[in-house]
Amino acid sequence: MTELDTSVFRSGLLTGQVALITGGGTGIGFGVAELLAELGAHVVLASRKPENLERACATIRASGGLATAVPLDVRDAEKVKEAVDHVAQTHGRIDLLVNNAAGNFYAPSATLSPNAWKSVVEIDLFGTFYCSQAVYPVMAAQGGGRIVSISMTLHYRGWPLMAHATAAKAGVDALTRTLAMEWAPQKIRLNAIAPGPIPTEGVKKAFTPPADSGVTDIFAATEARMSAYAKKSIPLGRWGTPRDVANMVAFLASPAGDWVTGAIFVIDGGEWLAKPPM
Ligand code: HXC
Repeated sequence: MTELDTSVFRSGLLTGQVALITGGGTGIGFGVAELLAELGAHVVLASRKPENLERACATIRASGGLATAVPLDVRDAEKVKEAVDHVAQTHGRIDLLVNNAAGNFYAPSATLSPNAWKSVVEIDLFGTFYCSQAVYPVMAAQGGGRIVSISMTLHYRGWPLMAHATAAKAGVDALTRTLAMEWAPQKIRLNAIAPGPIPTEGVKKAFTPPADSGVTDIFAATEARMSAYAKKSIPLGRWGTPRDVANMVAFLASPAGDWVTGAIFVIDGGEWLAKPPM
């Protein structure tokens, strides 16, 4: 994977900022947390799994960053409020909220159970709203803040077997634009990022040959399949990395993002534009 040069961001760019990142223990959320911490922010990582949070915080601290863990299920509005109040009281402010926590799986819509539908929509959409609403009074009282929500591109044209996630992320886009207008007087900027394919564990699994395929070097076979996909389906010819997303979050959190609100940034190497019709 390409290691991206992030030297365009000056050292200490975000010093003094407090950034709350949901789902910050793993994947894209952790990548965002790492960069923000490198740039001086105190990152507060919130997610359901304490073991992921502790590992992520330890990694960031080992590199000299400031990181704190807050166990949280974003589906619980009361708990979200309590957690946000706790962070605000402990740190005195919240400059940035990254709504990154998400749940997803492929499943036929005709047989999706009410609870399956509800689980994904509650994490992706309700969770984004609950967290945004909870930071509002903190950001309004301190004179402003930034909220960045992680969306997707699959709802732009529809994506079979993902009615729950595409519906939820379309809602996240709508919330981003609506709250951007509603909360502009309080100087709270809301933007979204729609990442393309980024090989987190789940994506890698999907490209791994089945156990009975007779393949002896599973790692090499998975890499080969992923490389073939990138050549065929991603105009810029490579998979994304958490750092690709983190760079945009850092830009939006910096003074350079001062006049940016209500925008949705697609960061996907051109993938969605190039997708053939189903
Ligand atoms: C059908 C499923 C299912 C599946 C779960 N369910 N997986 N239905 N097919 N593969 C159903 C269960 O049967 C249950 O319904 C309901 O969903 C809730 O499942 P639980 O496991 O009890 O819920 P919970 O523990 O809260 O887990 C939430 C989750 C889970 C969303 C279902 O997958 C999760 O925690 N995911 C977090 C990690 C994740 O998904 N990351 C990916 C994010 S990536 P019943 O009726 O049986 O009670 C992303 C971008 C994707 O979002 C872009 C992809 C191309």
